[in-house]
Amino acid sequence: MTNLAKILTVDEMKTAARRAVPKMFFEYADSGSYTEGTYRANESDFSKISLRQKVAVNLEGRNLKTTMLGKPITMPVAIAPAATGGMQIADGEIKAAKAAEKFGIPFTLSTMAVCSIEDIAENTSAPFWFQLYVMRDRGFIERLIDRAKAARCSALVLTMDLQILGQRHKDIHNGLSTPPKFTPYSIFQMMQHPIWCARMLGTRRHTFRNIVGHVGGDHDLASLSAWTASQFDPTLNWADIAWVKKRFGGPVIVKGVLDPDDAQAAIDNGADAIIVSNHGGRQLDGAPSTIRVLPEIIERVGHKTEVYLDSGIRSGQDVLKALAYGAKGTFIGRPMLYGLGAGGEAGVTRVLDIIAKELDTTMALCGERDIANVGLHNIYSNDIAPRNAPSSPLPAGERSTRSVG
Ligand code: GLV
Repeated sequence: MTNLAKILTVDEMKTAARRAVPKMFFEYADSGSYTEGTYRANESDFSKISLRQKVAVNLEGRNLKTTMLGKPITMPVAIAPAATGGMQIADGEIKAAKAAEKFGIPFTLSTMAVCSIEDIAENTSAPFWFQLYVMRDRGFIERLIDRAKAARCSALVLTMDLQILGQRHKDIHNGLSTPPKFTPYSIFQMMQHPIWCARMLGTRRHTFRNIVGHVGGDHDLASLSAWTASQFDPTLNWADIAWVKKRFGGPVIVKGVLDPDDAQAAIDNGADAIIVSNHGGRQLDGAPSTIRVLPEIIERVGHKTEVYLDSGIRSGQDVLKALAYGAKGTFIGRPMLYGLGAGGEAGVTRVLDIIAKELDTTMALCGERDIANVGLHNIYSNDIAPRNAPSSPLPAGERSTRSVG
C-alpha cells in the first residue's frame, strides 16, 4: 500500500503508480506517440523558463481562487479528460471526480472513460464537464450529447486533434486492451498486482461504458486504435462546432489547438474557450510543446476568449508559468492518472494538494499575493521564445519594461 503522506511530488506519485498498476495500463498513461519527443518537450520546456524572484513583499492573505468559464474554482487547475482512469484503479473516474469536487476544481470525463456519464452523475453532485469525440455515427453522438445534458454537464470539451490515432508503440508491445484480453502476457502483468486485481473483481465497470451498450454493431472497442480507425469521423471540421453547440445548448471548449490561425478559427466558429493542447504528446510527434506556442496564441486570441493549457503540467511551478504567459487555467491528465493508480481518490487529492502548495509557495516567492496578478513580469519570458517574437499578451509599450528576457 502506498503511504501517500510520504509522496512529495507528482514524479514520486508516478513511481508509486508504476508499482501499483499493471504495466499495460501504467504505460498507456506514461506514453507519447512515436519517438515521444513531443511528450518529453512538454515537460522539459517548462524547466527552461526562469521565475523572477521578488522580496520584501507582504505575503499575507494569499489567494489562488479564480474562475474558469465563469465558474469559481479553488485554483486554476482542472482535471483533463483521460481514457482508462477506471483501469488505473477500479472505478477510477468516479474516484477522481469525487476528489475534484471536494477540492473545488472542474472534472472532465473522457468519452473513452471506463465509468460512464451516468456513473459520475450518480456519485457526485457538482456539475462536471464532458469531453466529446465526434464519431461517424452522428446519431450516437447526438445521444451522447443528450446524455451529457441530462447529467447536468456544464460544458462540453470538443477534442479536435484525434480523428486518427498517433501510434503509441508501448500499447502495441504491451497488448493493451480494455477490458484486458486474457493472454499469457496480460495475465502475467496482472498477477503481479493482486490488490489491483481484487479491486477490479469488486466492480462491474470494466469496459468503455459511455459507448458499450449505446452503439449498435459488433465493434472491436477493446483496441483503441482499431476503434478510432473505424469509428472516429475523419471529416470533423470547424463547422461542426456549431451543431455540437446547438445540440448541447451550453458552452463548448475546443481542445487540441496549437496554432494561432486555428485558435482564431475555433472562436470564429463559436468556441467559448480553447485548450492549447498537443494531447499530451500522444498525437503529432514533432509538434512543439504547448508552453512554447502559448504566447503566440495568447497574442492572437487572449483578449477574446479564455485560453487554457494542458500537456506537461507536473507542478505548481508549471501552472504559474502557464498563467504568466496568459493562460486562464490549466489541465492535468497524467498527474491525475498517477494519483488514481497509486491511491485512488486519496491519491488524486494528494496530487491536488501538492500542486496547490507548490503554486502558493511559488507565487509568494515571486512576490505575488493573488493569482489574478500573475503575468509576464513574473518570468524571464524570452527563455523559450525569441525576444522579438510575437509572444506577449501585453501592449507593446508595457512589454519592453515588463518582459525583460
Ligand atoms: C485518447 O484520448 C488517448 O490519447 O489515448
